[in-house]
Amino acid sequence: MREFIPADMNPRDVHKLLLSGVAPRPIALTATADEHNNINLAPFSFFNAFSGNPPVVIISPAFRGVDGSSKDTYENLKRVGKCTISMVTYSMVGQCNLASSIYPADVNEFEKAGLTMRESSTSNIPHVAESPFALECDLLNCIELAPEKKGSGNLMILQVTRIHVKENVLNGAVLDPTKVEMVSRLGQDYYARITPECLFRLPAPSGQGVGFDSLPQALQQSSVLSANTLSKLAGLESLPEQLLEANERVCSHEAQQRAEEVSQRGGSTEEILTALLK
Ligand SMILES: Cc1cc2nc3c(=O)[nH]c(=O)nc-3n(C[C@H](O)[C@H](O)[C@H](O)COP(=O)(O)O)c2cc1C
Repeated sequence: MREFIPADMNPRDVHKLLLSGVAPRPIALTATADEHNNINLAPFSFFNAFSGNPPVVIISPAFRGVDGSSKDTYENLKRVGKCTISMVTYSMVGQCNLASSIYPADVNEFEKAGLTMRESSTSNIPHVAESPFALECDLLNCIELAPEKKGSGNLMILQVTRIHVKENVLNGAVLDPTKVEMVSRLGQDYYARITPECLFRLPAPSGQGVGFDSLPQALQQSSVLSANTLSKLAGLESLPEQLLEANERVCSHEAQQRAEEVSQRGGSTEEILTALLK
């Protein structure tokens, strides 16, 4: 492992390295307005949800690294205290990118990016009509991390007051990820596109699993069973006697291969055990 010490590095390099590893990040396509109702739109991937009750998200429109100047989003939010955040999907990622261009404060990036303004309920700040999921937010607090430093972040802590979701992407009262091609930001100019093929499900552990350390040594040291397969066994609240004995038959190469195949196909823990113990 190579060790990097941010304090000894050029801030630009720290920024690039950090963003290449803290990824993928969701993108907040953020609309704000100034006191004269000039509408602004810009993307921010320093973004996430931090609380469900109250519903709170945070974005960080940083001071520019080049000259320390502030961004329109930061100025507008501080002055007006409201914004909307629209989710970015693959079909609009190019337009999202366009909206990140530096235009004068009175230029509406919805128009420059060819995106449609949809009316919001709690303010005159629109959200993006093309987006299947949008939030209306009120500024709760702003934490300026180091205003004297170029490129420093500004945490805009936002309470969500409205959530708009297109009917066709809902499954009950939640978004169905197979119906929306969400997009996230990685380092450099890489993005990721969430297609149905790259989705997988992983149910939360129920109860207290026996843990890796309680699995038979022969399985822990297996060169066939992956860590993900072993995790499923380690998540069981108790192990079958037969497995604990971990005799030759249980640990045979063939049995492990069968179990691994079952696991890779998304088989249940029961099915993995059956394959192991056959
Ligand atoms: C996908 C994407 C994510 C971005 N994330 C951030 C971010 O989290 N913080 C930031 O300060 N700038 C970010 N930027 C750059 C801003 O969008 C850019 O500086 C923009 O011009 C700011 O616009 P404004 O002055 O209208 O607020 C990002 C750009 C892109 C394309």
